[in-house]
Amino acid sequence: MSYRIFLAGASGAIGRRLTPILHNAGHYVCGSTRSKAKAGTLRSLGADPVVVDVFDATALSRAVASARPDIVIHQLTDLPRDLDPREMGAAIIRTARIRGEGTRNLVRAAIAAGAHRLVAQSIAWAYAPGAEPHAETDPLDAGAEGDDGINVQGLIALEELTLKSPPLDGVILRYGQLYGPGTSSDQPSNYAPIHVDAAAYAALLAIDHGDTGIYNIAQSNRHIATEKARVELGWTPDFRLPA
Ligand SMILES: NC(=O)c1ccc[n+]([C@@H]2O[C@H](COP(=O)([O-])OP(=O)(O)OC[C@H]3O[C@@H](n4cnc5c(N)ncnc54)[C@H](OP(=O)(O)O)[C@@H]3O)[C@@H](O)[C@H]2O)c1
Repeated sequence: MSYRIFLAGASGAIGRRLTPILHNAGHYVCGSTRSKAKAGTLRSLGADPVVVDVFDATALSRAVASARPDIVIHQLTDLPRDLDPREMGAAIIRTARIRGEGTRNLVRAAIAAGAHRLVAQSIAWAYAPGAEPHAETDPLDAGAEGDDGINVQGLIALEELTLKSPPLDGVILRYGQLYGPGTSSDQPSNYAPIHVDAAAYAALLAIDHGDTGIYNIAQSNRHIATEKARVELGWTPDFRLPA
């Protein structure tokens, strides 16, 4: 089955790997960036590029409507490329705004455009302290303070909007810590690592595999349970794009 897909954040670390995966699987991809300068790159990766800011609700609705998507994929964050600790405070605030206000705009645009499914990026290291490995049913750390608190409130907003906006079927991918091309690390982290290609592959599967709900996406590790994605999405952490 081939779908029409609006990929919000096609120019990001996951988006740049996901675009050719979707295109090569036979789907039409309309991929977003805020930057006209990146449109050519998105086109070369297999997307029909669209330049739009998620905070401009009117322009976003127009862009999503004109893509006529069956499925919307949300891979938006606003983090420094190298995760420079000096820039992270401001980046966490910007990203929390994307996850709240930005997701709300994207959900409205997706519903108005007639999309039936929304697949959204979350993270797998925001669970409340408790027994490990954490399953998807474990609570997020809603009592966190400072930057962690801003982060978790953004995630809670994103996940609720994604999962509770009928008639959209919402799928949340709680990614572990990315490594690989275009990320801040060549090597897996010690916590719950995930290669960026395998992260993108999970988004490909999530467009038509698995029920609405939450899936942890990480390599085998002792902190986060990952069986659900393997069983219900048919996901494997070994997927890599050809070099
Ligand atoms: N789970 C994880 O470990 C995880 C998850 C995400 C990111 N990261 C890390 O964070 C770093 C940066 O990530 P990244 O390369 O994906 O870049 P990013 O700057 O976080 O951008 C991600 C995507 O969101 C888009 N975007 C940001 N703000 C937007 C807005 N207001 N409206 C519309 N689109 C907007 C960007 O488009 P533009 O082209 O307009 O900038 C881009 O397509 C990397 O090191 C990455 O590995 C880690």
